[in-house]
Amino acid sequence: MLSRQFFLFLSQSKWLKQNARRWGQKLGAKQVIAGETLEEAMNTVRKLNEQGMYATLDHLGEFVHRREEAEHSAEYCVKILQAIHDEGLECNLSLKLTQLGLDVDRDLCRDNMMYILQIAKELENFVRIDMEDYSHLDATLDILNELRQSHDDVGTAIQAYLYRAEADVRRLGGVNLRLIKGAYNESPQVAYQKQEDVDENFMNIIRTHLLNGSYAAIATHDHHIINQVKQFVKEKDISKDQFEFQMLYGFRTNYQKQLVDEGYKMRIYVPFGTDWYGYFMRRLAERPQNVRFALKGLLSK
Ligand code: FDA
Repeated sequence: MLSRQFFLFLSQSKWLKQNARRWGQKLGAKQVIAGETLEEAMNTVRKLNEQGMYATLDHLGEFVHRREEAEHSAEYCVKILQAIHDEGLECNLSLKLTQLGLDVDRDLCRDNMMYILQIAKELENFVRIDMEDYSHLDATLDILNELRQSHDDVGTAIQAYLYRAEADVRRLGGVNLRLIKGAYNESPQVAYQKQEDVDENFMNIIRTHLLNGSYAAIATHDHHIINQVKQFVKEKDISKDQFEFQMLYGFRTNYQKQLVDEGYKMRIYVPFGTDWYGYFMRRLAERPQNVRFALKGLLSK
């Protein structure tokens, strides 16, 4: 049985990550990753914009352990912001703090973020810090707090599977938050293990953040949750300008279009780059059906 734990375990394997590049995109990764170059990713964003969708670009990369790699990642983020601006695309940037050196030196990571945010401000764009596993949560929120003392155009993501999610969302009132179920393998000490508990907490944090008057990016492919959100905003007369739905590139594309046709703001998370392994494995862990196209890719010539 190909379980969630199995793929999350594989997602952390450095050996597999290094060797996965040799298999190229054979595993079917190209259906959910918008190419390896910035140019390919920009083409994807342009097509999404033409369909009335917004985007957020993510240059894939994790497990950065050297200063130079972290600095290179920061420069690459700036390059993406500049390209978005030059092409006039409706698109912002998502990134991970470990990519910017969080595991190397916290201050280096904070300085890299400051540099990126300074450019984002000049180019009038927004940067979202993805949330990683629990061991990085406190450091991520601390850095966010520091950044927000001089920048409004930055937000993060809160994971509903964590018991503390509701308290964090309350503390972060006024911040543009992406609300999600959570993608990592966390222990029962810190996280709900049953899907129905996660779903219930997901709706709790969505309600809390919206009722607070704060902007919410509700990131899910789950139509049960989306239907409840639609119902809730209608009952509470919450404007469609106070939230957006977000989905991952390549997932439920017809449903993405349907929500746009219904007048909802939809932003697609567009990952690209050569370092696609960890991202791809987490997607396999989330949904056994996703394994099918991976196996198909592997068997095709
Ligand atoms: P989930 O996978 O729980 O599915 C629930 C139900 O929805 C399924 O049973 C099925 O009925 C339906 N469904 C789901 N996918 C379907 C499909 N492809 N086709 C048909 N039906 C489907 N995580 C994290 O830890 N940190 C982060 O920063 C982010 N960022 C992020 C951004 C964006 C834009 C998204 C969409 C997600 C993330 N995530 C994330 C991942 C997130 O935490 C979560 O793991 C996945 O979105 C999977 O959960 P869902 O809410 O999509 O539904």
